Amino acid sequence: MNITVQKTTMPKAKPAEGTALGFGKIFTDHMFVMDYSVSKGWHDAKIVPYGPIEVEPSCAVFHYGQAIFEGLKAYKTPSGDVLLFRPEKNMERINISNDRLCIPQIDIPFCVKALKTFVDIEREWIPSGEGASLYLRPFIIATDAVLGVHPSYTYKFFIIASPSGQYYPEGVNPVRIWVECKYVRAVKGGTGFAKTSGNYASSLRAQKEAEDEGYTQVLWLDGIERKYIEEVGTMNVFFVIDGEVITPALQGSILPGVTRMSAIELLNQQGKKVTERPITITEIYKAHKEGKLSEVFGTGTAAVISPVGELNYGGKKIIINDNKTGPIAQKIYNELTQIQTGKAADKFGWTQRI
Ligand code: COI
Repeated sequence: MNITVQKTTMPKAKPAEGTALGFGKIFTDHMFVMDYSVSKGWHDAKIVPYGPIEVEPSCAVFHYGQAIFEGLKAYKTPSGDVLLFRPEKNMERINISNDRLCIPQIDIPFCVKALKTFVDIEREWIPSGEGASLYLRPFIIATDAVLGVHPSYTYKFFIIASPSGQYYPEGVNPVRIWVECKYVRAVKGGTGFAKTSGNYASSLRAQKEAEDEGYTQVLWLDGIERKYIEEVGTMNVFFVIDGEVITPALQGSILPGVTRMSAIELLNQQGKKVTERPITITEIYKAHKEGKLSEVFGTGTAAVISPVGELNYGGKKIIINDNKTGPIAQKIYNELTQIQTGKAADKFGWTQRI
């Protein structure tokens, strides 16, 4: 399939070097769009000026939430080259999410090619500076204009891009996390392992209540026993207990993060074993009491590596590593971001130059 390109005649002003970008607030000049119908499959791939889209109010996605999305980043290297980080992994995960939501599979090599063509067109929008990147948001929505509850027969796939800085206002400083005891995010058999928009919609109430209490995000516990740790709002989570790095095992209700996977590979390469197993919140509090919990950190595309400085579980607060970034999180952050930005050799073959 060819990708047709229609460039904007009214390019927008790009943010000046050094502007505080925030996350996902500014959008580039163009977007990638591709349609799906049963008779044509995925077709009509194009890059067009970024702007509003027209769909009917009866459009399936508005009513039954048949939508999935991804997040990945393009980075500028010191020599001005552009790197993408493991784009196939995100496209593979789109197909996992699609399968769960009855959305037709995408052609991974074609979508990686489309992503690269799009990023190449938007390359001038990639910011430089610590923590800055062009955040890429592929997503798919169901577009049938009918109200019957049924998988849609038509879809639209988009990729939009946003020059962004750090996700959290705290930057790379430790965040305060609320351990969620009232609401749950997912259960096995649900959609927790898929990147569906609905997972995020149902997380908003807990997120708001945590923010009202002065916390940045929530730490989700399992939906049945409410004791096993799952993940944080926008990231997977790691603990260092007695020198051992532990992260919850992926058992169907946790998002299999690309940064999670990369952090495990980096740690293994540093000679540190990472244990993936069920871990309870009680175990974390016990380890803290015994002086064995030295670090907690999250991993995510938007969040990168984010240390956790405080947990609040039902009013019981613990401060981790004196509310400072620990050595393990710092080392992975350095190694990962150096590879992503082309400042260190990529022994893993994770980056792709555009
Ligand atoms: C990402 O890290 O890219 C995510 O998708 C999390 C988010 C919802 C900001």
